Amino acid sequence: RGLAIGIDIGGTRVKAGVVDVYGQVVERLDRATPTHSPEATEDAIADIVGELRGRHHVRAVGIGAAGFIDENRSTVLFAPHLAWRREPLRARLVERLRMRVVVENDANAAAWAEYRFGAAQGEDSVVLVTLGTGIGGGIVTHGLLERGRHGVAGEFGHMTLVPEGRRCECGDRGCWEQYAGGSALARSARELASSGTPLAGGLLDAVDGRADQLSGRVVSRCADEGDPAAEGLLRETGEWLGMGLANLAAALDPGMLVVGGGVSAAGELLMEPARRTFAHSLTGRGYRPSPRIEVAALGNDAGFIGAADLARTAPRRSADAP
Ligand code: BGC
Ligand code: NA
Ligand code: ZN
Repeated sequence: RGLAIGIDIGGTRVKAGVVDVYGQVVERLDRATPTHSPEATEDAIADIVGELRGRHHVRAVGIGAAGFIDENRSTVLFAPHLAWRREPLRARLVERLRMRVVVENDANAAAWAEYRFGAAQGEDSVVLVTLGTGIGGGIVTHGLLERGRHGVAGEFGHMTLVPEGRRCECGDRGCWEQYAGGSALARSARELASSGTPLAGGLLDAVDGRADQLSGRVVSRCADEGDPAAEGLLRETGEWLGMGLANLAAALDPGMLVVGGGVSAAGELLMEPARRTFAHSLTGRGYRPSPRIEVAALGNDAGFIGAADLARTAPRRSADAP
C-alpha cells in the first residue's frame, strides 16, 4: 500500500515507475520523450499512468519535469529542452487523470530522492547536481526542498561560467550546462572530431565515422575502453564540473554535494578531475570545512522516485484538483 507513480520528463527520455513508501521501485518504464509539442508530452504521461494504474493500486502521480516550475507547483513556466511555455501542466493532468498530481522540477525531485533514500541520507544540507541533457540542480536545507521565492531556485545549469561562451538552449551564452552536461560532452566530442585531428580516430570508429552520432554515452564507453581522447573529454568535463561545484559551495555551504544524471555514470574518469578542480577553486580552502562530493546512489531512477515520494506525501490541498 501507499504506492505512487513517479514520472521524470527529461530532455531525451521519460522514465517512470511505481514506487513504495521506502523508495523501492515496484515497476519501471522508460521511453523516448516526445518533445515536438506540449500535447504529445502530456499524451505520453497519460499513457504511462494509464498503463501503470492498470497493474497497481496507486494514489498519486508525481511529475518531475525538466523546467522552471512556478511557486504553486502547477505551471511549467519555461523549459529549455522541452516545448512547454507557461504550460498549466498540473491542471491538464488532473483533468485527464482524475488523480492527485504534483509537479516538481526534475532535479529537485532527484535531490529529494537522494536525500530520503540515496547518497545523502542523514545529511540535511544537500546540493544535488544532475548531469543529463542539461544540468539540473536541487537544494535540501534543514531537511526541506528549497524552492526559492518563485519556485525556480536551483537552476544551476544556467549560471554563467564563461562570458560570451557557448550558446545555450535557454537563449543565453556561457551557461554551465554548455560545458559540463551530457549535450556539452557530445558537442565537445563532435568539435574534436570535426577538427580533423587524428586523436579523434577512436571516437569516430565507435560511430562508424559519423561524427553527428557522437553522444555523451559513446564518449563514456570509449573512455572506459581506454581511448585517450575520450578520457581527455571527460577530464575537461570534470574540470568544468568541479569549478561549478566550488561556486555552489561558496554560495550555499552544503554538507554534501551529490552528482547524478547520466554523465555521472562515467565514475572516476569524471569525478577525479572534478574533485581536484573543486579543491583548487573552493574559496577559503584550507581554512574552512569542505563539503563531501558523492556520486548519486539512485542513478537514473532518482527523478521519478523523488517525484513519486513528493506526490505521496504532499498535503492534499496542493495536490488535488485545481
Ligand atoms: C533546466 C532545468 C532542469 C535541467 C535538467 C535545465 O536546462 O533549466 O529546469 O532541471 O535542465 O533537466
Ligand atoms: Na531545480
Ligand atoms: Zn542556459
